[in-house]
Amino acid sequence: MNTEKVVRERYADAALQREPALCCPVDYDAQYLSAIPQEVIDRDYGCGDPSKHVRVGETVLDLGSGGGKICFIASQVVGPTGQVIGVDLNDEMLSLARKSKVTLAANIGYDNVEFRKGKIQDLAVDRDAVDRFLIENPVKDEMGLRSLEQYLETMRTSNPMIADESIDVVVSNCVLNLVASDEKELLFDEIFRVLRPGGRAVISDIVCDQEVPLEMQLDAELWSGCLSGAFERSAFLEAFEQAGFVDIRIQHLQPEPWQTIDGLAFRSATVIAYRPHLASEGDEVIEQTAEYLRSRDDVRRVYQGPFKYVVDDEGRMYTRGEACEDALAQAAQREAIADQFAVFENSSKSSPAKTTATLPMAGGGCCGGGSSC
Ligand SMILES: C[S@@+](CC[C@H](N)C(=O)[O-])C[C@H]1O[C@@H](n2cnc3c(N)ncnc32)[C@H](O)[C@@H]1O
Repeated sequence: MNTEKVVRERYADAALQREPALCCPVDYDAQYLSAIPQEVIDRDYGCGDPSKHVRVGETVLDLGSGGGKICFIASQVVGPTGQVIGVDLNDEMLSLARKSKVTLAANIGYDNVEFRKGKIQDLAVDRDAVDRFLIENPVKDEMGLRSLEQYLETMRTSNPMIADESIDVVVSNCVLNLVASDEKELLFDEIFRVLRPGGRAVISDIVCDQEVPLEMQLDAELWSGCLSGAFERSAFLEAFEQAGFVDIRIQHLQPEPWQTIDGLAFRSATVIAYRPHLASEGDEVIEQTAEYLRSRDDVRRVYQGPFKYVVDDEGRMYTRGEACEDALAQAAQREAIADQFAVFENSSKSSPAKTTATLPMAGGGCCGGGSSC
C-alpha cells in the first residue's frame, strides 16, 4: 500500500466535503471557536485539544494542520506577540486553511498564523518552494534530477522550512498515526530538532491497546481513517523517549474507546514531552540555575511523594522526603516536575544538602546513577 497516496487522497476529499467517519468528538474551548469560519469547524478531524497547553507569546508549530482549527485556536491563545505555523502536505487542506486565515485575522484584529506545505517527517523541505522550483526546472533527465537534489540539499542545510530549535511548542491533532511506519522515527527526530531546548511537544493522537496486526495496517481505509497506523500505547511513549524527550506524560487518555475493531480498542491520548535543556558548559540557563543555587543555600526541595521513590527520564532518583540540591535545580528548570517538590528553608547551613559538581541536566548528580539523594 502507498500510505502517502492513500492519505493524500482521503484528506483532499475531506477538505472539500465533511467526512463524519473521521470525526472523533472533542470539547474545544468555545470562547475561541466563534472567530473561526464554520467551514473549518465542520472539517474537524482531530481527536484531542493540544491547544489547551500553549501560552501567551509562544511560537507554535502544528503538524498536519488540516483546515487550520488548532492553529486558529492557538493563534488566539498566544496572542499578537506569539506566532503559529501550520504544516500540511495536502493542497486542498492548505487552501481551506489559507482562505480561512484571512477571516480569522479580520475577526480577531491581528494575523499571526501561516501555513506551509511540507511533510511532518521532513520539516526542512518547503514543498511550495519545491513546486515553484519544478515549474522553472522541470526534471526531464538525470541532469535535471541532479539539480533538484542539489536544490533540496541546499534547502535542508542552509534554509530549512522549519529551522533547528526555532519552536517553543509543537502540537499535533490526530496526524502522527498517518505517517508511514518506516518514517515514524524520522518524524519524532524532526519534532525534537525543531524544538528549542526546554521546549515541549503536545501531541493528541489515536493509540491502540495492542500492536495493530499487519493485515489491518495494509487496509487503506483503516489507515487513512486514523486507526491502523496508531501506535500501541506504550510504544507511543517509547517513541518520544527514543528521540531524546524527557518528562514524558500522558496528559489525557480517553476512558472509552473511540472505536473497537476485531477486539482492538482505539482511543485518543494526549502526551506532553520536553526537549531537555542544554547541559553544555556555559549554557546560560544552567549557569543561571547554578548561580541561583549558590545564592539560595537556605532553600531545599524535597520530592513529596506519594511514591517512595521515583526515577526521571535521565535516571535520577528522587526519594520521598529527602532533600537534594539537584532536585532544586531540576525543579527550578523543569516545569513538568516542579509541582512534585516541596520547598523549605534550610535553617542549618552547616549541613548543606548533598550537592554535585555537574549542574543540573547531565545526569549522574547526587540523584543520579540510580542512587537516591
Ligand atoms: C486527521 S486530519 C487532522 C487535521 C487537523 N489536525 C484537525 O485537527 O482537524 C490529518 C491531517 O494531516 C495531514 N497529513 C497527513 N499526513 C501528513 C504528513 N505526513 N505530513 C503533513 N501532513 C500530513 C492531512 O493532509 C490532514 O490534513
